[in-house]
Amino acid sequence: MGAKKKLYSRIHAQLDGLLSGETDAIANAANMAALLFLELENINWAGFYIHKNGELVLGPFHGNPACVRIAMGKGACGTAAESRETLVIDDVSQFAEHIACDSASQAEIVIPLIENESLWGVLDIDSPLLSRFDGIDRQGLEAMADLFIERSDLSASG
Ligand code: SME
Repeated sequence: MGAKKKLYSRIHAQLDGLLSGETDAIANAANMAALLFLELENINWAGFYIHKNGELVLGPFHGNPACVRIAMGKGACGTAAESRETLVIDDVSQFAEHIACDSASQAEIVIPLIENESLWGVLDIDSPLLSRFDGIDRQGLEAMADLFIERSDLSASG
């Protein structure tokens, strides 16, 4: 197994431990953001935007203060939320919709969090390195997002 797959295997297990016995979505999102920010290399922001009243509102995160509200279809987050598909951006300067919260960000991955066809929010991770997120990152992060959805009570917030 390659080093990156091993990393995801390890942090997936850590997340499993952190979420065990806890269903509060905000608490779980806060711990997941902290874990990702601590463990992933070359990351300058990791966190959540929560779908509320038809827009995305800033949730638990680690990194610089960020924009609070993002309309559906706007920015990388709103685009991924609207399409309901993971969005990997190698170079944010080439993505017309990108909203720059931190000028250091060069690459971004956004994973929509959906349960029973209902959009709860998105997981957003930014990097200061171009092309930071490959297929292994996508697979590893989508699996962690699935674990978060499975363990958390998403009906109580969002
Ligand atoms: N870049 C995002 C905005 C959120 S920050 O990256 C934390 C976007 O374009 O939606």
